[in-house]
Amino acid sequence: MGQGPTGKPKGLFIKTYGCQMNVYDSERMRDVLKPLGYAPVDTPEAADLVVLNTCHIREKATEKVFSELGQLRRMKEAGGGVMRIIVAGCVAQAEGAEIMRRQPAVDLVVGPQSYHRLPEMIARASRQTGDRLETDFAADEKFDALPKSREANGPSAFVPVQEGCDKFCTFCVVPYTRGAEFSRSAEAILAETRELTRQGVSEIVLIGQNVNAWHGAASVHDGLGGAWGLGRLIRQVARIGGVERIRYTTSHPRDMDDALIEAHADVEQLAPFLHLPVQSGSDRILKAMNRGHTAADYRQIVARARAARPDIAFASDFIVGFPGESDADFEATLALVGEVGFAQGYAFKYSRRPGTPAAGMDLQVDEAVKDERLARLLVEIWRGAQAFNEAQIGKRMPVLFNRKGKHRGQALGYSAYMQPVHVEDGAALMGRILDVDIVGATQTSLTGRMAAMTGRTTGTLSEAIA
Ligand code: 5AD
Ligand code: SF4
Repeated sequence: MGQGPTGKPKGLFIKTYGCQMNVYDSERMRDVLKPLGYAPVDTPEAADLVVLNTCHIREKATEKVFSELGQLRRMKEAGGGVMRIIVAGCVAQAEGAEIMRRQPAVDLVVGPQSYHRLPEMIARASRQTGDRLETDFAADEKFDALPKSREANGPSAFVPVQEGCDKFCTFCVVPYTRGAEFSRSAEAILAETRELTRQGVSEIVLIGQNVNAWHGAASVHDGLGGAWGLGRLIRQVARIGGVERIRYTTSHPRDMDDALIEAHADVEQLAPFLHLPVQSGSDRILKAMNRGHTAADYRQIVARARAARPDIAFASDFIVGFPGESDADFEATLALVGEVGFAQGYAFKYSRRPGTPAAGMDLQVDEAVKDERLARLLVEIWRGAQAFNEAQIGKRMPVLFNRKGKHRGQALGYSAYMQPVHVEDGAALMGRILDVDIVGATQTSLTGRMAAMTGRTTGTLSEAIA
């Protein structure tokens, strides 16, 4: 494995499943593999090395990995066995040994905290020495060991601030696959942000499994000493020249402190948008889920955030059919959705995950009941999204343009509320945040017209992409 004797680049194909952290990790794997001579290609057929960056959150996601591996094995055999296959991500972490046993075509299995070891693992694998499975936990080592420089990939960039989770919701595998909560240092996060803005990035998305659990302390020598929470970090990120928009995801209701809510009131670049999963509207179910908050607590956070920033929009995740969920519990979830008016919602049928406390709970809910509840909840979520989007008609809002549309002259971007926005006269504006007057809405997108060219612009990247 590695660069061929001719020095010609070798093809790399990374397929990413699941959350934003995996998207980020895939980018970093690309960075780590570049010095070994690997360059991205568009299809697995054209690749010398295929990486599946996997998700373990629900059973379906895990099953997909094994069926994908079956296809890759056939591809590998058809090509004379030259292709190398690596399984990364949360399935690798949770089921590494099982993968090696079930699918011998897999060359290496690497957990989310070990990507910096890939070059060494690949070298060892090609000499047929050493382990083919690396699933140690050491998030601090990972962040320190990954290459410091990062190539920006468009006008928006993910910056991880923390990884892992200590909350132990009873349905969730994350505390087991990603490990205990680990916060990166404020200095490292700010340095990465500066580097990205130097390359023309205008939107910084702070990411973490439990992003608002982030806590840090900066050293005293830079005058910023003391304990930090996410609200304070956001204020510092906002001071970096070129940062036009800041988002953060995904948050937990228990960590919505006053400082973070105040940041929404007075940090101009902070998007008025909060992805804050509630999971259920029933206190009984929230307790069984070990969420550590009630439905009333959640409503109160919504009210506090709206008081700080009246145009703030909410998104949430929901689980239907958690063990013991009655009709009345489910109705409470529907009621909460109707009341809050979410701009977006992501609903999932409860999926029993081995090793989590809820997997062993009595009163597992029938699949047919889950199906029916999911369908009803989705109708309510879509109704809310449609109403939210229609309420944007007539407003002027900043849109980050990142893609050309299907027909000539059409440009696509997204608002601070994360809806896709189409405009017909914006083709030359890629990579810039510009004001758009909203003239139309569907359940999933907005259409608009460019406002007079008075919007905030970011310069450098726009020329490169246009
Ligand atoms: N079953 C169904 N949905 C789940 N999620 C997490 N674990 C499970 C599970 N076992 C959902 C939650 C979480 C989102 C990322 O995935 O809603 O917020
Ligand atoms: Fe999973 Fe709960 Fe942690 Fe979110 S807060 S990652 S749902 S355990």
